[in-house]
Amino acid sequence: MLDCPMQNLKLSHIPLIQYRPIRTSDLEVLEKIHGDLFPIRYESEFFQNVVNGRGIVSWGAVDRNRPNGQNDELIGFVTARTVLAKDSDIEDFLRYDSSRSQQTLIYILTLGVADSYRNLGIASSLIHEVIKYASNIPTCRAVYLHVISYNNPAIYLYKKMYFQCVRRLPAFYFINGQHYDAYLFIYYVNGGRSPCSPLELVKLLVTCAKSGFKTVAAKLWTKEERKPSKWPKSKESGSLLPTKHNRRMSTEDAVSQFV
Ligand SMILES: CC(C)(COP(=O)(O)OP(=O)(O)OC[C@H]1O[C@@H](n2cnc3c(N)ncnc32)[C@H](O)[C@@H]1OP(=O)(O)O)[C@@H](O)C(=O)NCCC(=O)NCCS
Repeated sequence: MLDCPMQNLKLSHIPLIQYRPIRTSDLEVLEKIHGDLFPIRYESEFFQNVVNGRGIVSWGAVDRNRPNGQNDELIGFVTARTVLAKDSDIEDFLRYDSSRSQQTLIYILTLGVADSYRNLGIASSLIHEVIKYASNIPTCRAVYLHVISYNNPAIYLYKKMYFQCVRRLPAFYFINGQHYDAYLFIYYVNGGRSPCSPLELVKLLVTCAKSGFKTVAAKLWTKEERKPSKWPKSKESGSLLPTKHNRRMSTEDAVSQFV
């Protein structure tokens, strides 16, 4: 459990934030905050599963300095569940290894902080708890989640926490008769990062094909003009292989394009 005194202009007192497991006595408040924060309605079975820890792991944040006997009431939460990598839609983004059938992932289901407690780092701390939990499971390879494309505070948060935006999913959500896109964010743990995802492989092939074409064109040009080639030699074209830096750039580019 972590103590964290902090200042927030929306509050009339200095909050003292602590993190604890969610329990059955949180049921009513948990349902209420979900209702307040999300456009999607969750089944009561979902809340029952959260508070009873049935297939769902969760952490709650409380303000120990909150007046009026509310010092154990949830003001933030994160819920997540374990999924098998082979049953997930992100298998392509994981490093392949022979233990593939046993690999697991942690999928963040919901994350929220009450309005008056925002921008105090509470969601960041809750996500840290999830990452710590996932990292301690030897079979776990990543924490991942979906976020609706217009949710800038959440997108900013995940980028700040070094989640990678790997895909935009058109019409992923259907809310009040309207479709919305989602972004898929992944945080790798325990070496789960694929050294080269299929998407990167395609990009690499295209790049190599282009550089190959350039090399051939250069050879023809050189032959014709009897001058040294101005195109990169094949050794140099090897530097077109995606470096760590390039990979990061392309991920960030993808996100900033969407935000
Ligand atoms: C997203 C949410 C969980 C963030 O909670 P939080 O406790 O305020 O998050 P943190 O304080 O840890 O970090 C928030 C960061 O986002 C930034 N931020 C806040 N509003 C922002 C906005 N509109 N655009 C960009 N960045 C924003 C803050 O400045 C802060 O960054 P900093 O630490 O660099 O200053 C909270 O806004 C929330 O509950 N939203 C409603 C529910 C929701 O959208 N959940 C996520 C579903 S995927």
